[in-house]
Amino acid sequence: MSHRAILNLLLLLTTSIGWSQSPHGEKLRIDCALCHNPLNWTYDKLQSSFDHNNTEFPLKGQHKNLDCRTCHESLQFEATESSCFTCHNDIHQQTVGNDCARCHNETSWVVENITKMHEQTSFPLIGVHSIVNCDACHQSETNVRFSPINPECISCHLNDYTSAKMPDHVGQNFPKDCSLCHKLTGSAWNASGIVHSFFPLEQGHQISDCTICHLTTTYSDTKPDCINCHTSDFQNAKNPDHTLFPKECNLCHTLAIGWMPASFSNHDSRFPIYSGNHKGEWDQCIDCHTIAGDYNTFSCIQCHEHNNASKLAKEHDEVGGYQFVSTACFGCHPKGD
Ligand code: HEC
Ligand code: HEC
Ligand code: HEC
Ligand code: HEC
Ligand code: HEC
Ligand code: HEC
Ligand code: HEC
Ligand code: HEC
Ligand code: HEC
Ligand code: HEC
Ligand code: HEC
Ligand code: HEC
Ligand code: HEC
Repeated sequence: MSHRAILNLLLLLTTSIGWSQSPHGEKLRIDCALCHNPLNWTYDKLQSSFDHNNTEFPLKGQHKNLDCRTCHESLQFEATESSCFTCHNDIHQQTVGNDCARCHNETSWVVENITKMHEQTSFPLIGVHSIVNCDACHQSETNVRFSPINPECISCHLNDYTSAKMPDHVGQNFPKDCSLCHKLTGSAWNASGIVHSFFPLEQGHQISDCTICHLTTTYSDTKPDCINCHTSDFQNAKNPDHTLFPKECNLCHTLAIGWMPASFSNHDSRFPIYSGNHKGEWDQCIDCHTIAGDYNTFSCIQCHEHNNASKLAKEHDEVGGYQFVSTACFGCHPKGD
């Protein structure tokens, strides 16, 4: 008999004896020879061709080098549970749930990227908070008990709020969501960290001296209406004369320095001049509003007369009620078409 044949015979023997004396239970459907050699029942990792990665629980990290029995005490392999918490003590005492793999892997319990972990919560650790010690916020009795904490600013900064006097936060009833006004990228509660997005400090308003607009320490009594701060600009504006303009500067202006460019984009809802037939056909407001500053008055025949009054009359030959009068033109051609 060849060497191989002897081996096969032995195997046959051991397996047939095997079933009866298997400690692995009835459910095991893997050939004994995959894990055992014919001589004894020890398990030799190097000889075995069994690959644990084909099971539902691939062995990774520190699990790779463990003895089979540390996890399969009973040797009934399928009886072993696979969730981390069945084998590992929940050191966090149910403060972060049972899904350990959300934060950990099999290599080590160290969580490398706490910042990234906080990004998954409602409280990203950004700016000033990224350099604060864990236990300043997580004040549980042990340092790995992460009891839920309220992520609202006021829950940790109530004292800062009540003691803030410049300006007086309580007195002015400032909102308790500090992030409305305080950026987390600033180093403290001072001006460098103030957000002002409700009234953007850009272009003409890029002014670092707050007191130019906030004449008192009461920030909330500054009104956002343009005319409040720009009355004299309005009165002095002569080209075009603004006297009869609406006082909402932002109808025509942006915050662009020098008040230019300006455009009365709302105009087109009254008579299209930035679109339609008259787009690009005029230079100044006075082309139509011939009396400077009087926007109730306008002229059409100023231009259309040059076209030739009689020609115009001819074009209206068939049109009853035609008059060579601007308000009449506007009455029949309210959109200039
Ligand atoms: C997936 C691998 C694997 C398969 C397949 C397998 N065994 Fe095992 N068997 C083991 C391991 C691991 C041990 C524990 C050995 C150790 O601790 O050194 C073991 C131990 C044993 C023992 C000794 C029990 C003890 O208390 O020491 C017997 C007997 C045994 N197996 C029989 C069988 C039989 C019979 C079959 C086939 C029906 C079989 N095994 C299939 C892995 C396997
Ligand atoms: C870190 C723990 C751990 C170690 C170490 C480990 N296993 Fe497992 N093993 C498991 C878990 C968990 C399962 C999945 C059980 C299930 O739900 O099916 C499993 C599944 C198995 C299965 C499939 C059972 C089935 O029928 O579904 C076999 C066979 C097995 N292991 C054999 C071994 C052998 C042999 C070794 C040693 C080389 C070993 N295991 C080492 C945890 C481990
Ligand atoms: C079937 C039991 C079992 C399951 C399931 C299991 N482990 Fe393990 N694990 C062990 C054993 C046993 C050890 C080695 C002994 C020890 O260090 O606790 C170990 C070791 C570790 C280690 C190394 C510990 C150290 O001190 O360095 C880490 C990390 C780990 N496991 C993470 C996990 C994670 C994450 C999961 C879930 C994805 C998990 N384990 C699932 C049994 C298990
Ligand atoms: C939300 C994320 C999160 C979850 C979920 C989580 N942990 Fe942790 N775990 C941590 C953090 C953070 C640490 C501290 C790590 C550090 O300081 O490097 C830690 C540390 C640990 C440590 C080491 C403790 C020490 O003293 O060094 C163990 C063990 C541990 N966790 C086990 C678990 C187990 C078991 C589960 C599942 C029941 C689990 N963790 C779930 C975040 C988590
Ligand atoms: C400035 C305050 C602050 C600091 C500093 C801080 N945390 Fe947190 N952490 C929080 C808040 C607030 C939550 C809760 C967020 C929520 O409920 O959505 C939280 C949540 C957690 C959670 C649970 C996450 C989850 O998904 O369940 C863990 C774990 C945690 N922090 C660990 C740490 C560790 C470790 C450190 C230090 C490296 C740290 N934290 C530093 C405020 C902080
Ligand atoms: C879970 C507690 C916690 C929450 C919630 C929290 N902080 Fe903090 N914050 C701290 C701690 C602790 C410090 C560092 C100690 C200190 O300076 O008060 C800090 C520091 C700061 C600082 C720097 C203060 C300084 O003097 O340098 C600012 C600014 C700040 N937080 C703003 C906020 C804002 C805005 C929110 C809401 C989006 C917020 N914090 C929510 C705990 C918290
Ligand atoms: C409506 C906007 C606004 C809100 C909301 C707001 N603050 Fe302020 N806070 C300010 C301004 C403006 C300053 C003065 C900055 C400067 O110029 O130094 C300030 C300054 C502070 C100061 C320094 C005050 C001093 O007397 O030196 C603290 C502390 C402070 N804020 C805490 C808070 C806390 C805590 C919250 C949330 C609970 C909060 N603030 C919400 C606008 C706000
Ligand atoms: C160009 C003018 C201007 C400048 C410069 C300016 N602000 Fe304001 N600020 C305003 C206006 C207008 C409002 C009111 C906005 C509103 O009610 O919509 C306002 C509102 C505020 C509020 C909110 C008050 C409340 O009760 O809601 C705070 C706080 C504030 N400013 C702080 C500052 C600080 C700090 C600076 C300097 C860094 C500054 N502002 C610079 C015009 C200005
Ligand atoms: C709380 C006062 C305040 C309010 C409200 C305000 N501004 Fe201003 N604005 C200023 C100050 C102060 C300056 C800089 C000094 C100056 O040029 O008058 C300025 C400058 C400007 C400039 C640049 C002027 C130049 O000469 O370059 C424009 C454009 C402007 N503002 C437009 C507006 C518009 C549009 C509004 C309404 C949406 C508005 N402002 C509301 C205070 C205010
Ligand atoms: C109906 C549109 C409209 C409104 C509303 C309006 N402006 Fe103007 N403004 C203009 C136009 C058009 C110009 C000329 C821009 C150009 O020449 O490019 C202008 C120019 C100006 C100039 C420069 C004028 C000059 O004589 O040099 C100032 C200053 C000015 N506007 C201030 C204001 C202020 C302040 C308000 C609000 C209180 C306001 N404007 C509202 C359309 C308007
Ligand atoms: C091509 C002719 C034309 C040009 C150019 C023109 N407008 Fe007009 N505008 C009109 C007509 C027509 C009306 C009348 C609409 C109505 O009565 O409903 C009007 C209405 C207005 C009104 C409303 C007056 C009121 O009664 O409330 C204002 C303000 C105005 N224009 C400003 C301007 C300004 C500023 C410019 C220059 C940027 C300008 N217009 C350029 C034709 C023009
Ligand atoms: C600044 C000169 C100017 C003024 C003022 C002016 N228009 Fe025009 N209009 C033109 C030009 C140029 C055209 C385009 C060329 C053409 O089609 O004749 C035009 C086109 C038209 C057309 C369309 C002609 C076509 O081909 O369909 C009508 C209708 C019209 N204008 C009516 C008016 C009315 C109504 C007014 C007064 C509210 C007016 N225009 C004021 C210059 C002007
Ligand atoms: C009673 C209404 C009415 C009045 C008033 C009127 N039009 Fe017309 N207009 C019309 C009609 C209808 C047409 C011919 C319609 C067409 O061909 O699209 C026309 C045609 C035109 C055309 C030629 C359009 C083209 O397609 O070639 C122009 C330009 C024009 N009108 C300008 C004016 C001017 C300028 C005035 C004032 C002096 C005026 N209209 C007064 C009703 C009127």
